Amino acid sequence: MALWEREAEFAAIERQLARLCAASPSTCDDGRARVLALTGATGLGKTALLHETAARASARGCTVLYARGSEQEQESGFHVLRALWEPVLPLLDAHARGGGTDLAAAAVGLSAPACAVGPPPHAVYRAVDQLVARLAAHLAARAAPLVVLVDDVHWADPASLAWLTRFIPRAPTLPLLCVIAYDSRDGRPGLAELRKAPGGAQQVHALDALSAHAVDALVRAAFEGGPEEPLFGGETSFAQECRTLTAGNPLAVTRLLDRAGEAGLKPHRDSLPRLAELAPTVCGPGFHEHLQGFGPDCVRLCWAVAVLGAAATLPLATRVAGLGAQAARRAAGTLRRAQVLDMPPRAPDGTPPAAEEAVCFTHPSFAGEVYRAIPSGLRTALHGQTAATLALTRPGHLASAHHLLEVHPDADPTVVAELHRAARAYARAGAPEAAHRCLGRALSEPPARQDRPLLLYELAWAALRSGAPAGAVHHLRAALAEPDCDAPVRRRATRLLALAERRSADR
Ligand SMILES: Nc1ncnc2c1ncn2[C@@H]1O[C@H](COP(=O)(O)OP(=O)(O)OP(=O)(O)O)[C@@H](O)[C@H]1O
Ligand SMILES: [Mg+2]
Repeated sequence: MALWEREAEFAAIERQLARLCAASPSTCDDGRARVLALTGATGLGKTALLHETAARASARGCTVLYARGSEQEQESGFHVLRALWEPVLPLLDAHARGGGTDLAAAAVGLSAPACAVGPPPHAVYRAVDQLVARLAAHLAARAAPLVVLVDDVHWADPASLAWLTRFIPRAPTLPLLCVIAYDSRDGRPGLAELRKAPGGAQQVHALDALSAHAVDALVRAAFEGGPEEPLFGGETSFAQECRTLTAGNPLAVTRLLDRAGEAGLKPHRDSLPRLAELAPTVCGPGFHEHLQGFGPDCVRLCWAVAVLGAAATLPLATRVAGLGAQAARRAAGTLRRAQVLDMPPRAPDGTPPAAEEAVCFTHPSFAGEVYRAIPSGLRTALHGQTAATLALTRPGHLASAHHLLEVHPDADPTVVAELHRAARAYARAGAPEAAHRCLGRALSEPPARQDRPLLLYELAWAALRSGAPAGAVHHLRAALAEPDCDAPVRRRATRLLALAERRSADR
């Protein structure tokens, strides 16, 4: 679909791509701005512009990487970073990766050497930057320069956001183009830091709502080929009413026109009252009410997909929703036709695609709307069901840990063990905040008495690595006061306490 009124953004994208593709691989012209930021509220067209950037970059032979933050994955350390680099870093052989790879390995999804203590985050960020620099040089030398697209940065997990904030000022010195997109209204402190990234590295394009002229054109395109009905009738035109009802937000306009088409409306003034009724169901809380019209199976399937987030596949969602396979397939078909869910198409003979059937909402904002509309007790139960399903179907995967963070404490030793395992994996990757959340939750389960000292000791490590030495002192004293604190943990806790007290006093 053509994107209206984005000429300035397209011009900037074209300029940057042309510079990237013209530059000699080893050098970088210093016209700076190799980072473009697209900002704006939900539905203003950030993702659409990133997709267009991807298409244009691919047409020029660039290597395009895309990852996005997700409202449901904010607790997963390095979720975005891993989604970005994991598919492409294997292009570099061990020699080309060079030294320091071990430090970055767990963060970017490469196999990591076992180590007792996780590295400090800044060392991990530096190591990732070195890998990215080598990869960018490698691809530029092969005339396939790197274009890195990061969508919905406002939902990125804290570890990935912290890396991106440090990477952005460095990006203009590398033979790559980085285009990021975020909702500038988001008040997360991490995002404020990203906006202020030093060196004026980002060229920011704030997207506007569409003008009356553009909405008019979209209305004409939507009803093209239909019966010859006048667009203008009475004092208010159909297109004007569309713009008023949607404030010119492209997502709301396109959805409203789809809905109007499904309802059989004609672009005529007689349709205006019905159009006004449809508008609240397009986005926002009214979207969930609209879903209920499809019946309970569809609602349950949507709830399951919203809770599963990036891990959602139709078989998993079917289990989490507690539906039979046939009922789930029927519901999925209905939701796909209604453009609520998206999934890879089945072959004409009905055989499923070879890959597991990934399923997601057609627009990420729908996932948030649906998630928030699930009654809270039920949402907690769905997280528990999801954690159990993932533990069964993807043993060893970290995905179940963030669901366990949402379930009510129940003194369950398997929950403690799973969270402890996830915390260690996050600590090893250099994501101490994520480790801290898992350990804090494991301690409130609560664990068996004999497990408390070690969990408290590791919690203190995570606090120290996260820049909270006073918290570390508190946890270490608690560990040392535990009657079951054995000699090895006591020794390590005593040593770490001295360090934490020094750091705390230095502040
Ligand atoms: N300039 C435009 N002209 C016409 N249609 C547009 C324009 N921008 C976006 N759209 C359409 O509006 C819909 C929403 O756009 P998109 O998903 O890119 O918004 P977004 O800013 O990424 O939203 P979110 O922040 O929720 O992810 C898409 O269907 C897209 O094709
Ligand atoms: Mg988007």
